[in-house]
Amino acid sequence: MDLAFKSLVNYASRKSGVNLTQYRENYLRRRIEFRMKILGVTSFDAYLKMLQNDGKEIDKLLNTITINVTEFMRDKTPFEFFMNHVLPDIARRKEKVKGNLLRFWSAACSFGEEPYTIAICVFEALGSKWSVSIYATDIDDECLRVAKDGFYRPTQLKNLGKDLLEKYFEKEEDGYRVKSFLRRCVKFKKHDLTTQEPVSRYLDAVFCRNVMIYFSEQQKIKVVNDFYEALVDGGYLVIGKSETLPAGFKDKFECINLREKVYRKFSNLANSCEEE
Ligand SMILES: C[S@@+](CC[C@H](N)C(=O)[O-])C[C@H]1O[C@@H](n2cnc3c(N)ncnc32)[C@H](O)[C@@H]1O
Repeated sequence: MDLAFKSLVNYASRKSGVNLTQYRENYLRRRIEFRMKILGVTSFDAYLKMLQNDGKEIDKLLNTITINVTEFMRDKTPFEFFMNHVLPDIARRKEKVKGNLLRFWSAACSFGEEPYTIAICVFEALGSKWSVSIYATDIDDECLRVAKDGFYRPTQLKNLGKDLLEKYFEKEEDGYRVKSFLRRCVKFKKHDLTTQEPVSRYLDAVFCRNVMIYFSEQQKIKVVNDFYEALVDGGYLVIGKSETLPAGFKDKFECINLREKVYRKFSNLANSCEEE
């Protein structure tokens, strides 16, 4: 890393409280240069001065680095697999011990589409007799604000059929709001995956999709270890379609479906979910 770039990244890390020094350098360079181009700034030194002089610029840089793209039922098939195979398996295990609480974590939830999708999948696959608790976390305050509000425009809901829209959303003037019974299932919280402890333990499944691509190998290892700690034995981890688990996790997670990137924490329980 050249000196000017390094000073900029160190300053931005201190100022934002997010350890950007651990992000992949090429990715970080591309995103910072993208922001500089918008501002017409041509050197890292000049951009550092701008960050030091304009208190609001750090948030704009952070938003540029942590792209928030997301969708309801993103990629569709991982959520179909979740409904048809993972949830029935979790429910069977709970029924054996007479439990009725299902606990999930949507890590890096962006504007909330992912945790609400998880909630919809649970109601669709298992009905309403379960108590559902979903932690939904992100480092971006603006994302969390929008997510809590639960209001989405029709274009953001294009992956949901009319039937799901009617069941889970209230129509408002310019869009739809997630119904309150569904919103009550989700607890939104600010959380930095790279520096903080897991938000909870004894979770049945963790979704961490399309964020580890931005992380260095070292950060990925920290984060996947956290998920291992946070899951119950036999709990599921779902990652993004273009993502891979770091090396060294073969004895901790078994791959349940390689195409959908669904893994399960090893346990001694009988294997009851379909392998690919
Ligand atoms: C591309 S979105 C993924 C949203 C959703 N999981 C999905 O797959 O549609 C990436 C999200 O990761 C968040 N993010 C980036 N770095 C993070 C970190 N260190 N801790 C927690 N969230 C982070 C961003 O704010 C952004 O909302």
